[in-house]
Amino acid sequence: MSNHKPVVIGVAGGTGSGKTSITRSISQRFADKTILVIEQDYYYKDQSHLPFEERLRTNYDHPLAFDNDLLIQHVNDLLNHKSIEKPVYDYALHTRSNETVEVEPKDVIILEGILILEDPRLLELMDIKVFVDTDADVRIIRRLLRDIKERGRTIDSVIDQYINVVRPMHLQFVEPTKRYADIIIPEGGQNHVAIDIMATKIQTILNRKAI
Ligand code: ADP
Ligand code: C5P
Repeated sequence: MSNHKPVVIGVAGGTGSGKTSITRSISQRFADKTILVIEQDYYYKDQSHLPFEERLRTNYDHPLAFDNDLLIQHVNDLLNHKSIEKPVYDYALHTRSNETVEVEPKDVIILEGILILEDPRLLELMDIKVFVDTDADVRIIRRLLRDIKERGRTIDSVIDQYINVVRPMHLQFVEPTKRYADIIIPEGGQNHVAIDIMATKIQTILNRKAI
């Protein structure tokens, strides 16, 4: 990577809005060594000391569920060209794994997560802030399919969690962070115009830094 300070991009939006898909599409436009994606979900607080039943009752959509202190320390390390030991998260067990993965800094760091624009300390570290804005009905359908297929959940558990926790937390904490975004992207992964615009902007910044 270059000697320049990495560019930090925040990508927020409700669950199922398409944050991961859009981030993946942007990353694929660049060489492997250019963009590092850090998901805020990796930084859910460690709950390995709690019994499984208690972990089921945790509110994973509240800002206090995240270990932002560790995330901020890691972003600062990456900005100072240092490697980090990134936590690994297990959605089926609702906690961090014992393992970590060593991650090297790259020229562009994308921070992605429902509440990534909620902490003012994180906002200060970002050069570009994005909010992926997708209607709630589409988001719940996507989440239902994904959580059953990929996160070991049942239909009943996804619906119950959505109605009782995810929806109210979205309205209270996620939706209001839209005001901090430089760019609001309607719909997620298939918005090719938005993906092109983001990729062009990132390339312009990288070209400027290369001079
Ligand atoms: P988020 O990271 O915001 O929760 P994801 O990118 O993981 O959202 O998308 C949630 C689910 O919806 C995934 O299974 C993904 O494949 C699917 N998905 C995302 N964007 C689209 C789209 N435009 N059309 C159809 N399915 C989509
Ligand atoms: O990928 P997405 O943005 O949907 O991930 C965030 C969601 O993951 C939150 O809405 C939260 O409810 C959910 N989550 C969960 N169980 C966990 C950790 C997070 O259902 N153990």
